[in-house]
Amino acid sequence: MENLRICPNGPLQGIVRIEGAKNAALPVIAASILTEEPCCIQNVPVLSDIQNMLYLLEAIGSIIHTSDRHQLYIENANINSQIASYDFTCRLRASFLIAGPLLARFGKFKIALPGGCKIGTRPIDLHLKGFTALGASIYIGHGYVEATASALTGARIYLDFPSVGATENIMMVATKAIGTTIIENAAAEPEILDLANFLHGMGAKITGAGTDTIIIEGISSLHGTTHEIIPDRIEAGTFMTAAAITGGSLKIENVIPAHVKPLCAKLREMGITIHELQSSLLVEAGSALCPTDIKTLPYPGFPTDMQAQLCALMSMTNGTGIITETIFENRFMYVNELKRMGADITIEGRAAIIKGTAHLSGAQVSATDLRAGAALVLAGLVAEGETILSGVSHIRRGYADLAGKLRSVGASIQEF
Ligand code: EPZ
Repeated sequence: MENLRICPNGPLQGIVRIEGAKNAALPVIAASILTEEPCCIQNVPVLSDIQNMLYLLEAIGSIIHTSDRHQLYIENANINSQIASYDFTCRLRASFLIAGPLLARFGKFKIALPGGCKIGTRPIDLHLKGFTALGASIYIGHGYVEATASALTGARIYLDFPSVGATENIMMVATKAIGTTIIENAAAEPEILDLANFLHGMGAKITGAGTDTIIIEGISSLHGTTHEIIPDRIEAGTFMTAAAITGGSLKIENVIPAHVKPLCAKLREMGITIHELQSSLLVEAGSALCPTDIKTLPYPGFPTDMQAQLCALMSMTNGTGIITETIFENRFMYVNELKRMGADITIEGRAAIIKGTAHLSGAQVSATDLRAGAALVLAGLVAEGETILSGVSHIRRGYADLAGKLRSVGASIQEF
């Protein structure tokens, strides 16, 4: 089923439980390649992006057992290929996260260039800068990037931009590079720390993960481990915004409150009450939604992956707010779809100027990417009349049963 039918049905009320983080599980699954010993990864979300990463590992020789689909048992002793074709990298850009582990363990990889996507060109130059600094020779041709390294040696690497993927790939290579590697201007997202904790469990020597400077002491071999993936802060934020936009009250369980601080700050500015408990949040919408200004930044700034959802929310305020997207060059495509529902939004360069209106109207709209789809679902929850959303496959990439979870707290939303 590729479509969603969404109708307004009043304030959402109840409890939702958050899954493991997609953007932590993907690099952790890739990092399991670093050892011949089996790894057990728990709290894995059941998503199409995860399944595509598992297909890729199986294609190069991994043996993967899944007990209840949330727990993976991965054996990489018999990996027999270091090649990833375009079939894989065009479906899942995060496929490129196997580059670092393959280079570290086998001294080579040949991976089809992942290409861009709807939200931006998504280059990999910083990944390759790190690989080269650690001793790899890089060749790009015929749509592939190839790397070989007879030896990997620690280096000091400054990232021009705190790229999440580049930080992850370089950290994974450095775990087995002789000597010390220092990554400066590193990404500090919680998913980086979760990957570092997984690598710690394998015996890697890493300090500073979660800050802008990460130091890795290379070691000769890594062993298997068991690891539980952190909760998904973006799924949590999406449900927080669902409570806000419908004027509802949701208890959101299995959250690390520290990971959603930037979002909590903005929702509070808009008049939402948020109670932080140890591993859950109680989100209660107020009587009126006030506008605010948002600028997406690397963590701990406001996350770009919550930009579209907050734009939908800001469409319902009683004033004008501005969202500035500084991470990706083309992450406002969903705005045209929101405007077809009656939103009053003007794009000026990297900024969206949103004039709140108390009235959106249901329409036939299309999801252009994962978070755009989530934003249009949120708009459909409060738009007058029926909203038909196509492109649900985008949503399945990052949300396990979004419609089912929303229905469980009172939404009128069906797949067909
Ligand atoms: C990760 O993508 C996430 N994906 C994205 O989530 C997220 O939006 C992004 O980080 C930013 O937080 C995964 O973790 C699987 P980047 P990634 O490298 O690693 C530039 C979602 O919806 N850049 O931090 O690809 C790049 O152009 C997805 O779950 C270079 O210039 O993001 C972009 O402007 C979408 N050269 C900026 O950095 C490079 O070599 C951020 O990219 C790499 C990146």
